[in-house]
Amino acid sequence: MSDKKKLLRSLAGETQDVPPVWLMRQAGRYLPEYRATRAKAGDFLSLCYNPELAAEVTLQPIRRYGFDAAILFADILLIPQALGADLWFVTGEGPRLSTITDASGMGRMKGKDDIHEHLAPVYETVKILSQELPKETTLIGFAGAPWTVATYMIAGRGTPDQAPAHKLREGDPATFDALMDLLTEATIEYLDCQVKAGAEVVKLFDSWAGSLKGDAFDRYALAPAKRIISELKSRHPDLPIIAFPREAGDKYIGFAEAVGSDALAIDTSVDATWAAEHLQKDGCVQGNLDPKLMVTGGEKLQSEARRICDALKGGPHIFNLGHGITPDADPENVHRLLEAIRG
Ligand code: CP3
Repeated sequence: MSDKKKLLRSLAGETQDVPPVWLMRQAGRYLPEYRATRAKAGDFLSLCYNPELAAEVTLQPIRRYGFDAAILFADILLIPQALGADLWFVTGEGPRLSTITDASGMGRMKGKDDIHEHLAPVYETVKILSQELPKETTLIGFAGAPWTVATYMIAGRGTPDQAPAHKLREGDPATFDALMDLLTEATIEYLDCQVKAGAEVVKLFDSWAGSLKGDAFDRYALAPAKRIISELKSRHPDLPIIAFPREAGDKYIGFAEAVGSDALAIDTSVDATWAAEHLQKDGCVQGNLDPKLMVTGGEKLQSEARRICDALKGGPHIFNLGHGITPDADPENVHRLLEAIRG
């Protein structure tokens, strides 16, 4: 057995009897201590930009549950804000941004190297965490993938089908491609700084990758991920990277190899048995319990968790949900989940 941290061992391709576990959105509104700290900060964005408090909420689920990884507390929409977009959150609804609908909107954006002053508090949070985390816990940094971030910047909010972004990419490809390029380059610099500050792994969230089909998927989900990952790996050869092209379906097959990621995170729309057969040969698979089970709990939660572990036990696996844990989840169910996984 190596002396590597448990999460890093799976990322390095090791098959473990008990997989490492962490949960997307593990620092979040289902935890009373998170809600209290957010109230102290004032609001969600103030919390993201307050390094002491952002580090505190990152640590809360680690203290409560002993997860194998901590994910930096921040948001994928801090990059657009650093590039000059207005950003605010409407309680109960979600993010709102100023929109980019044409070349003039793109013209108002800053350059890829102009983001660091704005994002300095995030790097500071990473620094604090790398000092304060238990020695066995791995620190994950992250960013949104260019397509997903672009969908918010174009529409000015979350959209069920990403129609405004599809319309721009089809109607004004020059503006759309300029935005994708800027986001790709800014994301490289942002993640590079997170790694320099102490992030041990990075994850790229492409939450809306599933709405890109055929060639568009290859061009706007796969190609930017490949560019970001190859540049980061050339700067940090030992950096493990997790890719999450959510709802990619059949396009999950070969994705990790094509982009050069060490792990592929899967959503709930694919079955763990299918993933074992088609994806695990390329490396580690992360996923994919239905977050609804964290609300409903019971025997089904434990049997599903065991079924996923069983399906993926023949190769490297990181246990996680297929998407983020929701505010109505019962914190006690996390203990039940861990019991099912760790015994
Ligand atoms: O996972 C973690 O614990 C780390 C922190 C993290 C957050 N957002 C904190 C957050 C991470 C990794 C994200 C990623 C993120 N943010 C994604 C990609 C993953 C996904 O969920 O698909 C996206 C699309 C966003 C953009 C975003 N941020 C939306 C659409 C919303 C509103 C929806 C919601 O869940 O409320 C947010 C807000 C947000 N980001 C919250 C948290 C804890 C809730 C804000 C609050 O406390 O009020």
